[in-house]
Amino acid sequence: MEQPITGFRLDEVDDWVAVLACGHGQHVRHEPPLTFRPWVLTPAGRQAKIGWMLNCVRCDRGEPPTEKPMESIETLTTERLTAERFRPDHYDLLCRLHRDPVVMATLGGVRSDETTRQNLQDYIAHWETHGFGLWLLRDRASGEFAGRAGLKGIEIGGHWEIEVGYTFLQPYWGRGLATEIAAATLEVGFERLGLEELVCFTLPTNLASKRVMEKVGFVFEREVMHTGEATILHRLTLDEYRQGRGGQPTDR
Ligand SMILES: CC(C)(COP(=O)(O)OP(=O)(O)OC[C@H]1O[C@@H](n2cnc3c(N)ncnc32)[C@H](O)[C@@H]1OP(=O)(O)O)[C@@H](O)C(=O)NCCC(=O)NCCS
Repeated sequence: MEQPITGFRLDEVDDWVAVLACGHGQHVRHEPPLTFRPWVLTPAGRQAKIGWMLNCVRCDRGEPPTEKPMESIETLTTERLTAERFRPDHYDLLCRLHRDPVVMATLGGVRSDETTRQNLQDYIAHWETHGFGLWLLRDRASGEFAGRAGLKGIEIGGHWEIEVGYTFLQPYWGRGLATEIAAATLEVGFERLGLEELVCFTLPTNLASKRVMEKVGFVFEREVMHTGEATILHRLTLDEYRQGRGGQPTDR
């Protein structure tokens, strides 16, 4: 019986399994010379196959579902936050964040509404190209806009890297929310997208952000110039994350 793909997961030996709407899983390995599925190796490739039909022999055999329902990475819920993929109607909220000089002091300063419009277009295009990106964050209890966070491809230090980012409106600072969304972002990046490593960087003076990086497991790698400023680049690999460093607070 034909069933649509609703998501993907890695099995215990890091092979990709397509999760079907019926609740059954089916391996979709890229194993040349016998099977060619290069698309399965990239988040954008997998994202493009959501909704594709696969023949499910387990349905034909009447087997019970074996897979947990897949939650799309376009939305996310943590203990105190909800996250949603950026959309055009988020423009006014993003402007509020980008107009605040205190929030933006460590991010190159306030941005004009025109720059924010371009940023939003870039965030939306990033989702379309890569199958992941930045989310708009809301306070889960009130539904109020709280900030933005997520994963973004970026050229830094002469390499293409995938960055974990987080920025909150001032009333949400100092409550552990950046740590909460950073930990959830790592889970998406490593466990759901199968990324090999992630980076995070900030100004050396941004001690709160540096502390968030350390708390979720990032390790200082080197100083790097980025958009004319010296920044401290931190990195976390999938192996380190799986060895339990991810999400574990480290000593200051
Ligand atoms: C940086 C930012 C995201 C932190 O958000 P947050 O929700 O307050 O962070 P958390 O509460 O999860 O963690 C902050 C940690 O830094 C520590 N901290 C805060 N200010 C500090 C300072 N001046 N010196 C040392 N540590 C500091 C906090 O005590 C906390 O650590 P702890 O849990 O061990 O006590 C937030 O301040 C922000 O949005 N800033 C503006 C944008 C920005 O800089 N974004 C990051 C760009 S890389």
